[in-house]
Amino acid sequence: MRTVYWDYDTDTVKMIDQRQIPWELVVATFDDYHKLARAITEMYVRGAPAIGAAAAFGMALAARQSDASDRMALLRDLEEAGRVLNEARPTAVNLSWAVARLLRVATNEELEGVDEVRDALLTEAQRLADQDVEINRRMGYNGAALVSDGDTLLHHCNTGALATVDWGTALGVIFAAHEQGKNIHVLVDETRPRLQGSLLTCWELEQRGISYDLIADNAAGHFMRTGQVNMVVVGSDRTAANGDVANKIGTYKLAVVAKENGVPFYPVVPTSTIDLNLEHGDLIPIEERDPDEVLIVRGQPIAPVGATARNPAFDVTPHRYVTGIITEAGVIYPPFVKNVRETVERARKEQGLA
Ligand code: MRU
Repeated sequence: MRTVYWDYDTDTVKMIDQRQIPWELVVATFDDYHKLARAITEMYVRGAPAIGAAAAFGMALAARQSDASDRMALLRDLEEAGRVLNEARPTAVNLSWAVARLLRVATNEELEGVDEVRDALLTEAQRLADQDVEINRRMGYNGAALVSDGDTLLHHCNTGALATVDWGTALGVIFAAHEQGKNIHVLVDETRPRLQGSLLTCWELEQRGISYDLIADNAAGHFMRTGQVNMVVVGSDRTAANGDVANKIGTYKLAVVAKENGVPFYPVVPTSTIDLNLEHGDLIPIEERDPDEVLIVRGQPIAPVGATARNPAFDVTPHRYVTGIITEAGVIYPPFVKNVRETVERARKEQGLA
């Protein structure tokens, strides 16, 4: 089952409610883009590529919700929908990338009439979702070529089928290596505060029968220093043009410890997550979420009444800690400033997005 999809029978968007996993598999239905935007903020759907696909289908939904009878009015409604969706979460660039891609279709002068635009938007959203799956597969096999039989990989957050339309990014590398028959083991960072590692990644590894151990985030350094990790694989929510990588909070610490211990550190990043407009990682907006996510765990307070907390959802790993960036267009190695741009521009041309 895909994480996000369009239901052609009811003309609605369906998304797995990831807040319920691993206890229940609930599929939520959206017939209103405002509600869909809220669901992105509240993390029914999360993971950069999944958020991008949800936003694309949200734009297709907005086109159907609009009662505009001329193209200018429809475009105005779509621009407003794009604004609302873009505000849902700031760091994952796939969100604004998808909205911009759909708005480009809406302004295509070859389309005649509002109904043709509505149909074209849905076709484009579906194309984006289908491409996401195909890109993840390619990326997975590009990364699996770096994995040896017997390796232990350390993984942070959730980057699997749930974080994408299907298959996954960093977990996609693990799935591909497993599919190739390599005997691998995964150390799963639990990923405080929202526990995407323990709740979602363990669930996905269980389903595929891949060997893993859940570890407290604080244990990662111990496993690397004692030679028990061959490779660190993570995803990214936005990677800057110079190869600086924004990803789930805690990634930076992993990368520094990996370098200190000679463990290769590979972000697995579709080119849709690379923002060539941002020269370096300090320009990436970092989402700061509700402190209660830190102070309360599954409904139970874990600090005294009155305790305060900070809750940045992402951090930036400078490219000097990155061994290589695994993309659908191959593995990008240093010098990143030159090679990231070249790879992304080539991939966008090949995908008809240039
Ligand atoms: O806050 P989340 O759960 O949306 O964060 C997700 C991540 O940080 C992933 O590593 C990232 O989106 C890339 S995975 C496809």
